[in-house]
Amino acid sequence: MRTISNDRATVHILPDSLALAQAAANTIKRAARIAIEERQKFTLALSGGSTPKAIFQLLAQEHAADVERIEWDKVHVFFGDERCVPADHPESNFRMAHEILLSKVPAPSANIHRIHTELGPVAAAQAYEKTLNSVCRPDRGQLPSLDLVMLGMGTDGHTASLFPETGALDERQSSVVANWVPKLNTHRVTFTYPLINSAKEILFISGGAEKAGMLRNVLRGHSGTTRYPSEEIRPTGGKLVWMIDEPASTLL
Ligand code: 6PG
Repeated sequence: MRTISNDRATVHILPDSLALAQAAANTIKRAARIAIEERQKFTLALSGGSTPKAIFQLLAQEHAADVERIEWDKVHVFFGDERCVPADHPESNFRMAHEILLSKVPAPSANIHRIHTELGPVAAAQAYEKTLNSVCRPDRGQLPSLDLVMLGMGTDGHTASLFPETGALDERQSSVVANWVPKLNTHRVTFTYPLINSAKEILFISGGAEKAGMLRNVLRGHSGTTRYPSEEIRPTGGKLVWMIDEPASTLL
């Protein structure tokens, strides 16, 4: 693994996708161990899409093999965003995480906090904000500060379901909102910048040659006037770590 740092972030570059998944899994396990030692609780937000699958597989395999197990009974699992589909739909981020990881580890079902998209996007976002507050118990007037938020990045620079030129980018108060995404012709439910940036640790994971161009924009800057959503991820007090693979790093 090689590391580059600048004023924007620390970027760990792993040789390939498997090494990337292993490094990310190790980071999650380390964050869990520290949080549980300090507060007997670990609040974790999972990202969706395809990149996390290999990470979730490793976490499930290492639990089964009793390799540095996470104390899952002390973990509260959240989702950084969700598609507005049923929980058993092939595109559901919850379904993906449940099939690969959450059905294979002893996390109490009461601690797996699914975004209830069946309520409709706005009500689901409002309900999720209440759940976050009840679990994280932030100080009055503060947003929840999750221990670790996993994020991925799309080739358009989106993260979670904060897509370019969508209304959720302007949200500065709420933790979770419904976001209409014209390019997908659908609503999503998503964490907002304020909630993400309140996290103690943000772990951005992105791999593959197709992400190289956008990673250069996000990590090195670009001449465009519009900032990409992934550029707006700047923790207010926590740590931001990027993990990418060599194919994704070729333009840095
Ligand atoms: C989602 C994700 C989204 C994802 C990026 C990258 O619901 O799709 O939360 O933000 O992280 O689109 O997806 P890949 O990992 O599949 O490239």
